[in-house]
Amino acid sequence: QPACPAQYMNNDEKSFAYVSARDRWPVIITGAIDDTYRSVSQCDDPAKLNEGKAIVAELARLKYELQHDRQMTPLRDDGEADIAGYNAELEKLGTPTWFQSPWLFSECYLYRRIATSFSPSTHWKQYDIFARQKMATFRSSRPAVLELAARYKDLIGQIEKDKTQKGTPEHAEAEKILFHEMCEICLWGNATDLSLLTSLTYEDIQKLQGSEARKASEKNILVNDLEAAYAVLTKARDEGKAERHVDIVLDNAGFELYVDLILAGFLLSSGLATHVVLHPKSIPWFVSDVVPQDFSDLLSALAQPKKFYETPSEDEQLQDKTPEPLADKEAEDLAFLGQFVIRPNRFWTHGGSFWRLPAEKELVEDLKTSELVIFKGDLNYRKLTADAAWDPTTPFTEAIGPMGPGSGVNVLALRTCKADVVVGLKPGEDERIRGTEGGGGDSGLRKWAWSGKWAVVSYSGGK
Ligand code: F6P
Ligand code: MG
Repeated sequence: QPACPAQYMNNDEKSFAYVSARDRWPVIITGAIDDTYRSVSQCDDPAKLNEGKAIVAELARLKYELQHDRQMTPLRDDGEADIAGYNAELEKLGTPTWFQSPWLFSECYLYRRIATSFSPSTHWKQYDIFARQKMATFRSSRPAVLELAARYKDLIGQIEKDKTQKGTPEHAEAEKILFHEMCEICLWGNATDLSLLTSLTYEDIQKLQGSEARKASEKNILVNDLEAAYAVLTKARDEGKAERHVDIVLDNAGFELYVDLILAGFLLSSGLATHVVLHPKSIPWFVSDVVPQDFSDLLSALAQPKKFYETPSEDEQLQDKTPEPLADKEAEDLAFLGQFVIRPNRFWTHGGSFWRLPAEKELVEDLKTSELVIFKGDLNYRKLTADAAWDPTTPFTEAIGPMGPGSGVNVLALRTCKADVVVGLKPGEDERIRGTEGGGGDSGLRKWAWSGKWAVVSYSGGK
């Protein structure tokens, strides 16, 4: 296997790492402090109040250490097995300061460190500093949610009706087109993660989500291997395999999770899979990532959509605002979701890349039984490619190292680009896009890859 190039570092002025560590993380920590403070100030129980205040003080210290580029300290042992791994890695790196660290590790460390302020407490163990923000953003994507619900219901209805025509070329063609459409919806659902919200308005988000926008965005998918992924699923079905799993390594909650469930629902109703296994994170992660609680929150919102959309949020109450009522048809369209398996694993919140996945015997054995493992989003892509400075024309199968051919895992990455690393491009493509507006030009910065405007859909057959 060719050697992996160096990883992106926070002190690389040309990388998004630089901007992230200096500008974005302090904003994210400030948001976490504000959110916790808000909850603390609503506390009646003095014990809980005191614990909450101590946590706020700890988060403020973390922000100070980051902004003053102090050494990253070993994580407090909160009883979870991954702490040792984090601390060993930190030591191996020579206990660097924040800005002298690899981007991937330090960003994971940031969220793991925040979690260690809450996990040893009595009253705040399960507290999610990002929950308010995740729910608020989901509510604000209501137009796209309703549009998709209606479209989905319609499509599923057609699939049911078409069942009689199964086996005809028309049916096969329609199914293939739908597979592409569903995956693309699912792909662009990732354009809206909250950690980028420091620069996007809600209006921008809504624009990204409508179906017109989806069509216009197809030209922005730089690599599209959906054909290969579809072939793997139809082959397994044609071979008459009774149990066929698709796994989704989830990324963000709210709208993105909603579209993931739409894709999952489609895979089940079309018979392209018999089971869908969803993999969430175990701690609040990269602001918007799915934790198990988000999953149940979303399901209950969809099960009682009127209650969800018509009850004023905390902020709306403060501003004396009443949300628009939901039409009966809109509420009906939303009630479609079935049953899925959700399977948390601490590996997903480790600080290392997925080049270490083969060492996680139990997890990798589980993924090998899957027909297709879909990795959602930017961070998962960074982890697959070790967040390393690959030449952009490197084949995806090479850049994912031990997760590539021979790994036994069929990998599909659905990723909108929000970081520097990108592979699998045609020669000259990177240069061409650098030349487009906002692409970075001659600055030496791959700016086009930071905004979520461009995407890659990359497949690697591992079996
Ligand atoms: O690029 C900003 C960023 O926070 C990256 O650090 C991270 O990889 C990504 O966004 C998170 O995006 P996603 O939710 O798509 O993984
Ligand atoms: Mg995310």
